[in-house]
Amino acid sequence: MHLSHFLLFTPLVSAIWPLPRTLTTGTSTLWISRNVAVKYGSAGASISSSFPASPNISSQAGPPTGADIVHTALLRANNALFKTNFVPWMLHPRGSVFEPGADDGSGPQVTELCLQLPGDTAAALSTPPPPDADESYNLTLTVDGTVTIAAQTALGLSHGLSSLTQLFYSHSSSGGVYTPLAPVTIVDGPVFPHRGLNLDLSRSYFPKEDLYRVLDALSLVKMNRFHLHITDSQSWPLVIPSLPDLAAKGATRPDWVYTPEDLAAVQDYGARRGVMVYLETDMPGHTASIYQAYPELVAAYDVRPNWDTYAAEPPSGTLKLNSSKVEAFLDTLFADLLPRVKPWTSIYHTGGDEVNEKAYGLDDSVKSSDKSVLQPLMQKFVDGLHKRVRGAGLTPVVWEEMLLVWNLTLGPDVIVQAWQGETAVAAITAAGHKALVGSSTVWYLDCGHGQWLSFTPQTSAQFYPYADYCSPRHNWKVIYAHDPLAHIPADQHHLVQGGEVHLWAEQTDRQNLDTMLWPRAAAAAEVLWAGAKDELGQNRSQVEAAPRLAEVRERLVAGGVRAEPVQMVWCLRERGCVL
Ligand SMILES: *[C@@H]1O[C@H](CO)[C@@H](O)[C@H](O)[C@H]1NC(C)=O
Ligand SMILES: *[C@@H]1O[C@H](CO)[C@@H](O)[C@H](O)[C@H]1NC(C)=O
Ligand SMILES: *[C@@H]1O[C@H](CO)[C@@H](O)[C@H](O)[C@H]1NC(C)=O
Ligand SMILES: *[C@@H]1O[C@H](CO)[C@@H](O)[C@H](O)[C@H]1NC(C)=O
Ligand SMILES: *[C@@H]1O[C@H](CO)[C@@H](O)[C@H](O)[C@H]1NC(C)=O
Repeated sequence: MHLSHFLLFTPLVSAIWPLPRTLTTGTSTLWISRNVAVKYGSAGASISSSFPASPNISSQAGPPTGADIVHTALLRANNALFKTNFVPWMLHPRGSVFEPGADDGSGPQVTELCLQLPGDTAAALSTPPPPDADESYNLTLTVDGTVTIAAQTALGLSHGLSSLTQLFYSHSSSGGVYTPLAPVTIVDGPVFPHRGLNLDLSRSYFPKEDLYRVLDALSLVKMNRFHLHITDSQSWPLVIPSLPDLAAKGATRPDWVYTPEDLAAVQDYGARRGVMVYLETDMPGHTASIYQAYPELVAAYDVRPNWDTYAAEPPSGTLKLNSSKVEAFLDTLFADLLPRVKPWTSIYHTGGDEVNEKAYGLDDSVKSSDKSVLQPLMQKFVDGLHKRVRGAGLTPVVWEEMLLVWNLTLGPDVIVQAWQGETAVAAITAAGHKALVGSSTVWYLDCGHGQWLSFTPQTSAQFYPYADYCSPRHNWKVIYAHDPLAHIPADQHHLVQGGEVHLWAEQTDRQNLDTMLWPRAAAAAEVLWAGAKDELGQNRSQVEAAPRLAEVRERLVAGGVRAEPVQMVWCLRERGCVL
């Protein structure tokens, strides 16, 4: 008989995803109820209320204050603990006693939840945390029932509450909520400041309810940036009130749009969950959708049949590179948009990937595909974009080609986002720029679904079996094995701000959004929070990670996210699927 059949009530040793910097747990059981008292501030100066109430919430419009963030985190913890928790039977061996005896109300209880910030808590929570706010926290849970979460900012408290909920489970018969792990000590904080997801909102439309669900999941795994690739050649769903035809004519459907109110709502929803939502309007390439409203601004629009001479994807089309009408359009666009997004973000992505020089041979403002002619025009174009972005108080982000292919001189503030292969990040940091990792070879979530192009009977054989350019699918282990600091000299590590996983939406819509994102995006979340190496400098172990990832997957599913399974149940129960 298997040893596990004799084990009585064997708690899991570590449940939290992403892995905290240090975590120690015990084996005592504590129950928690909605009546737990919440206290703010350090001992003696505390303000009490009962869970999930919070310090005073601001009613003002604009970015949430620290108090709003803590309030949201408490509401979410309340939900996660008492409404969407789960019975962890599948994480324990068959036949084992996996939970304590039913709660009769006499077992030890969590009595107090103390949230601490340095100095005057009320003052510290009265303003929005700055974009580079410290996200670290410490959590202790004593056997006599006191939880203390100490942090430097509201964001740290929010992360601490997210970790707290991951220590608790639903009881199968009493319905009570318990942790089998007391006492607990956690000292935690992120390795990288930028931990993000890039979602393509042009190739497919995702209503804001979908984006809210994504934001809840990002926040659970402590990701803090949501990059909206909100315009591209296929659709311009971004409503610009001063240019009403842009979305009215440029969106896939007139009702598949994001109004200023939608955008503010999504940004605000993210900010309350510690996630900065920021926009990318990709330029000058990837702009064919502008043609629908402003044909005079776009060159090489929808060339057929040889679209691939002029663009990476149909329809071809690029903003003219030497046009005063384009500049006037950009003035209007950014004067409308940037002040609206600014309250919730510190960065703005101006795009710059896959610019095709041949398209400018068809551009009547240039009539040349000669790089030596185009390069100074591109410099001027991007300087203009970045001047507008900085003028609105935002920091520009660009795709790697602007630096590595077009050799542009970029300001030292500019963050350069890599996507093509492992050497790009090293080239960016070698040039002294801040970099974001997320190569298509490892961190693209769309790869491996096969070609979305259809091939004629004449060309079909040469493309069989129709693998896409970044095939195969990058499974969670590939994502998990990627070290953002690989190949980067130690004196340039500080330039690696973090990274993003990317979901380009040619083959994703509302129906499969969740399964395309989760749990694979969470694998990147742990790399970016905890680093790719363990405390001994070794690659992190899949054997250790798999059950924890499977557990956070159960929490995502319980919260309404249709995340894919990590392993079959037998593997989770018996921990036997190891080679
Ligand atoms: C909330 O408001 C009350 C009354 O205005 C005040 O006494 C208390 O200090 C405030 N608490 C926080 C945390 O801001
Ligand atoms: C957490 O504890 C560590 C070690 O005791 C300490 O250095 C750090 O300042 C604490 N962090 C917070 C956010 O309180
Ligand atoms: C850019 O446009 C200006 C004004 O129309 C024109 O004088 C100039 O020759 C153009 N530059 C190039 C490189 O085509
Ligand atoms: C950028 O520099 C590289 C290396 O010197 C060169 O091969 C490339 O043509 C340049 N690109 C442009 C657009 O000038
Ligand atoms: C650690 O991971 C890296 C990147 O995935 C890989 O190249 C390397 O071989 C691994 N090291 C060991 C000791 O397995």
